[in-house]
Amino acid sequence: MDDLKGIAGPLPHVFVPGTTADQWRTKRRPELLKQFTGLMYGEAPPAEAPKATVVNEKPMDGFLLRNIRLHTGILGPVALQLTLPLKQSKPVPTFLALNFTGNESLHSGPTAWSFAEAARRGFAIATVCYEELAADRKESPLYESKYRAVSLWAWGFSRMVDWALTVPELDSKKLIALGHSRLGKATLLAGARDERLAAVIPHQSGTGGAAPSRGTIGESVQRINTVFPHWFNDAYKKFNERTADLPFDQHCLLACVAPRPILLSNAQEDTWANYDGQFSLLDAALPTWKLLGGDEKLVQKFMRPGKHALTPEDWTAFLAFAEKL
Ligand code: GCU
Repeated sequence: MDDLKGIAGPLPHVFVPGTTADQWRTKRRPELLKQFTGLMYGEAPPAEAPKATVVNEKPMDGFLLRNIRLHTGILGPVALQLTLPLKQSKPVPTFLALNFTGNESLHSGPTAWSFAEAARRGFAIATVCYEELAADRKESPLYESKYRAVSLWAWGFSRMVDWALTVPELDSKKLIALGHSRLGKATLLAGARDERLAAVIPHQSGTGGAAPSRGTIGESVQRINTVFPHWFNDAYKKFNERTADLPFDQHCLLACVAPRPILLSNAQEDTWANYDGQFSLLDAALPTWKLLGGDEKLVQKFMRPGKHALTPEDWTAFLAFAEKL
């Protein structure tokens, strides 16, 4: 594995040859998740029973919009926006997504999401603005605790799962985590940790997400830990100049998603996110899908021309992937 594109190999083993599916589930996967918590992302708060109140509901052009106040427990209440098909005869598959710019901003302009198209194709989208969960500022008193931002955002996904499981209109077996960039990092971590997420779409997630810590292209571990010291824990910083000593790389986190479907999506001009490295890691993680009997056709890569962004073209790819679930 020395010549993988975008990675300074060799990579640590995901599992040693001869490992059984049962050993993976009961031993190796929990061991890896523990290492990721200890050496990179830090802890997540305990879960609390979800409480939600509907604030209002209105029909929009092509979908129904419901605003909800979701009480997450330790991180306080957040505004959750749910969009649904106007008519539904059965529970619908649902994207659970964090957003950067606020729920309102997703309805027009360059940050618009494809709510009507998703609804037309029978999907719901539930979203929360990430900073309502945990501030994205290193100065936030939140980070004087043992918690760090990516882990908290990932925890937010799991609180959305708790809530989604209480909503009869949503298909509890088809909850799909989606996030872009730093939120793609949280998406992957949430998908790895929380098996109730049926599928995962870490979009352009880059370093600290699906891209290798041992990367040779784009953002280095040292750079990310320096510019965003509140994203990962202090242990990860010790590897700034010696990533080869990490006992894992991100293929091990990808493997923790198996056997569930995953779509790694990227953009041609987004070399900062090391898409070559990401795709190499997905290949390196694939034996775990084989081991567990997962559907390899649903371990997918998507690449479009253009820059780092979440565009309507990306939504088209997300929907095509989700329709196969
Ligand atoms: C920066 C950061 C990336 C991150 C991105 C984003 O570019 O270096 O790691 O993914 O912001 O969240 O848009």
